[in-house]
Amino acid sequence: MRVLFATSEIYPLVKTGGLADVAAGLCNALQQLNHEVTVILPAYLDVMEQLDSVYEVAHIGENVCGIERRVRILRAENDSGVNMLLVDIPGLFDRAGNPYQNEQGNDWWDNGERFGLFSRVVARVALNQLDLDWAPEGGHCNDWQTGLVPAFMRLFASDSNLKPRSVFTIHNLSYSGKFPYSLFAGLGLPDTWWNPDMLEFYGEFSMLKGGLVCAEHITTVSPTYAAEICTPAGGFGFEGILQQCAVQGKLSGIINGIDTEVWNPARDSYIAYPYSVEKGRVAQKKRNKQHVLQELAPQSASVDATAPLMGSVGRMVEQKGTDLLLKAIVPMVEETDANFVILGSGEHIYEHGFTQLARRYPERVFVRIGYAEDLAHQIEAGADAFLMPSRFEPCGLNQMYSLAYGTPPIVHATGGLKDTVVDASPESLATGDGTGFVMQEATTAELRRCLERAVELYRRPRAWQKLQKNAMSQDFGWQRSAAAYLEIYQSQI
Ligand code: ADP
Ligand code: GLC
Repeated sequence: MRVLFATSEIYPLVKTGGLADVAAGLCNALQQLNHEVTVILPAYLDVMEQLDSVYEVAHIGENVCGIERRVRILRAENDSGVNMLLVDIPGLFDRAGNPYQNEQGNDWWDNGERFGLFSRVVARVALNQLDLDWAPEGGHCNDWQTGLVPAFMRLFASDSNLKPRSVFTIHNLSYSGKFPYSLFAGLGLPDTWWNPDMLEFYGEFSMLKGGLVCAEHITTVSPTYAAEICTPAGGFGFEGILQQCAVQGKLSGIINGIDTEVWNPARDSYIAYPYSVEKGRVAQKKRNKQHVLQELAPQSASVDATAPLMGSVGRMVEQKGTDLLLKAIVPMVEETDANFVILGSGEHIYEHGFTQLARRYPERVFVRIGYAEDLAHQIEAGADAFLMPSRFEPCGLNQMYSLAYGTPPIVHATGGLKDTVVDASPESLATGDGTGFVMQEATTAELRRCLERAVELYRRPRAWQKLQKNAMSQDFGWQRSAAAYLEIYQSQI
């Protein structure tokens, strides 16, 4: 099949979270299954600077919000060989830094116009209106940044024989791409679509809703999350539409895979001491632990390397249960010998909280505020257990990376975390199923209880090694999930 894959991030060119890894992993897997995938991405300045050969294949004028913009479609090839198109819109994407936010951590003032116009252009490419030498059979769109692609496809196809075929994947329903009516009008969407059955969302305009109401099929990134988003507790106001999709058989939950070329402890170029489930696992993990401590602890020699090291990597936001973690660390440090290694960035209040904790316990809590791909891999390899007490988690990749690295995850039973981690009881350990520690509720008390269980089990080397072995024996490669996406493409596109 020929599929146009629209995304606002792709590893390694531009990444703020899991979407980038998923875009790369899924497209590579589809390509390996002999399907033709072309990724379409905004021509961010930082991406353009990383690409060697880029050339124009089409250009077009688009009038949006009263401004006539010249848009260029560029072709490039990325290292893995997946074809790539870039949408270059001077003034909108040629700025340095994060794709969504300025240096102060505020959303770019014109995100609506940026991703609205990007989606409009992607829809034209998906319908082959620009006469490129490659015509897709349909589009696969991801999150609110490309939510309007299915909507524009429907709009542009309405006065032609073209078939608007698209699949829309929800990676995180809590980001709904909400903007005022003026943007809806400025993007040239028909006024008859300004109603609750179409793009109006409680008096505002939601770009994500464009994907939900106009795509042929909706997927999300785990079976449990697919059920959760149909409830008022997990639906962020979209539960009504999603229930309808579920009833019509238009909603599927497909668990993400992991890219085993990039996240593989036996071949990871970021880690100092590679290891595998078969060979030297225990000794090498100890060395990686010392290595990560050297990276982060000013006086690493005085850190007790025999004590369990609990790791965390991720966005510091309410979704991830960052506040629960902050609260659980103090009693754990006071009452047990557990140490903590934390990498992340996000809301100022949490960044400040961790910085303070590191000052208070300089030999027990090690913190790096910021984004560092290499350190993320080193923490997965060097920590003994991994913390993910998310309030909700559509899929989550870090718990799967942790399993692959023999770093049992401590997770809350929600979304993809529930679908990928099995609590370690004596029985589940023995049967080979137990892989981590599962909190039934997202509370500090539950997190502490799981941390204490982990510390206790860590003191029983044979049981801990069994847990690590179970974790590392799981298969989270992309093959199965890519096949599930293909089935949906084949029936819908
Ligand atoms: P989400 O997409 O909600 O942030 P996921 O678990 O799906 O959560 O994916 C997060 C990805 O981003 C992982 O690959 C993780 O290692 C990476 N990541 C998050 N924060 C950081 C950070 N501060 N430094 C390096 N990598 C990070
Ligand atoms: C989102 C979700 C995360 C998921 C990722 C990739 O960022 O928060 O749970 O793993 O997308 O699908």
